Amino acid sequence: MNTEDMKKAVAVAALDWVQENTIIGVGTGSTANCFIDALADSNLQIEGAVASSESTAERLKTAGFDVHDLNATGPLSVYIDGADEADPNLHLIKGGGGALTREKIVAAASEKFICIADASKKVDVLGAFGLPVEVIPMARSYVAREIVKLGGDPELRDQFRTDNGNLILDIFNMQITDPIALEQQLNQLAGVVSCGLFALRPADVLLLGNADNSVEKVVR
Ligand code: A5P
Repeated sequence: MNTEDMKKAVAVAALDWVQENTIIGVGTGSTANCFIDALADSNLQIEGAVASSESTAERLKTAGFDVHDLNATGPLSVYIDGADEADPNLHLIKGGGGALTREKIVAAASEKFICIADASKKVDVLGAFGLPVEVIPMARSYVAREIVKLGGDPELRDQFRTDNGNLILDIFNMQITDPIALEQQLNQLAGVVSCGLFALRPADVLLLGNADNSVEKVVR
């Protein structure tokens, strides 16, 4: 099974968590896109979706789903999204596509968070993938200096603005042995909008696509 097939397999497996006639949260990225395709191909009827990015909103609309404003929905039944890395505690790094802040908001507003990923995303310790941090533009240099004090190497993501009009600093060369503590430290820096660690609110279920065609289910 190649990576694309693994993404499709976990996307189909995630349909089991979709409650019909509810509004669901939908993430961003290639695996989340596979989920939108799988949902469109299924017979499941949902009331609509809240999107974690402008690109996901477009894809959902093109597939025929109603896209709702989170302020008008109340709690969502489930949030389904990919990840860049997932550890055994279902702590995640997300934001490779730059949508981390809206992803975190939609995950927080959802009763369950189902993470879908191919096997390459499974790690013992988070941090080989650069950890994205969304920053208000005027805080870029200050936040970068504070990240260095925390032991990381921040790099400004080239030519990139988030859907919220902000910048991304990717943190490299950090072994994240205590993701909850690091998420709290980064959250407290003035000018940080959010960081791509999902440890305070981890996934509830991780569906991992393996090369042998199987989908492994890890429940927290
Ligand atoms: C988007 O900002 C990210 O958080 C994605 O969820 C993450 O990068 C996974 O993307 P892929 O499914 O494309 O690997």
